[in-house]
Amino acid sequence: MSQDNGKSPALSSRHLLGLEGVPADEITLILDTAEAMKEILDRPIKKVPTLRGVTVVNLFFEDSTRTKLSFELAEKRLSADLINFSKSGSSVAKGETLLDTARNIEAMKVDVVVVRHQHPGVPKFLADRLTSVVVNAGDGSHEHPTQALLDMMTLRQTFGHFKGLRVAIVGDITHSRVVKSNIHGLITMGAEVMLVGPPTLMPRDVESLNVKVSHDIDEAIAWADALNVLRLQLERQKSGFLPSLREYHMTFGVTLERLAKAPKELVILHPGPMNRGVEIESAVADSGASVILEQVTNGVAVRMAVLMLLSAPEGIL
Ligand code: CP
Repeated sequence: MSQDNGKSPALSSRHLLGLEGVPADEITLILDTAEAMKEILDRPIKKVPTLRGVTVVNLFFEDSTRTKLSFELAEKRLSADLINFSKSGSSVAKGETLLDTARNIEAMKVDVVVVRHQHPGVPKFLADRLTSVVVNAGDGSHEHPTQALLDMMTLRQTFGHFKGLRVAIVGDITHSRVVKSNIHGLITMGAEVMLVGPPTLMPRDVESLNVKVSHDIDEAIAWADALNVLRLQLERQKSGFLPSLREYHMTFGVTLERLAKAPKELVILHPGPMNRGVEIESAVADSGASVILEQVTNGVAVRMAVLMLLSAPEGIL
């Protein structure tokens, strides 16, 4: 297996910690593999034996609906054995450290660790200390690589290409891990990215990432082919980043009225969970322009692809 020889047969890293530095040919390989996985998901019997004998732990220290369930489903569709860890109800409450928790689970003969954690850098920390393959399922405000890959898969299905594609990402840029992974992936693939949001939620050095910056949602709507609307992290609201949710909606909310002024129909993405009526109007989320549920479907296929490329026994690929 890949973890035995220390290297995936298909990707240059044996872990997926982020999209920063992942080359275009490897992103294309993951997306192409995900398309093949999607074909499996459309079959009457949605299961293949690819990861038989591989054991995966889903190590979730932070809440999740989409990522946790789609990793779990991806593992089941590939016939892996899986165990689920949630912080609540675990021995973390008794003071066990992150590393002790991970090492104890690994001692149960686990091959792959899928980890979500509120602190940036935890997947790298574990990858440096465990022998298992590590997949980042979202670490603080750092990266969420499989989310960006499923966003990119959805964009590629819609537009057929990335070169010159204009993607505006709207919302809380500072605290978003989704935006960082999307920037790395989209820029590598030749897309143009505009970040849109209030100055209080925009990092100062962001232009060095080769992106455009705007504080005007109408400018972004006029420029973009696709709009990726980020969840407004309501827990930050108390920290004085925003005057009020109502004002945020009036200034940056994506509404049908705003979209109607665009020179073309935009494709609308949202990583979820949505705050309807805050960053996105319900009518937009449920409109024909929205690909939000396609993103969720693609999430299973992308996670199958990543797990397979990183951990499938050699010879199956
Ligand atoms: N997009 C995303 O990460 O959603 P969850 O927090 O529900 O996993």
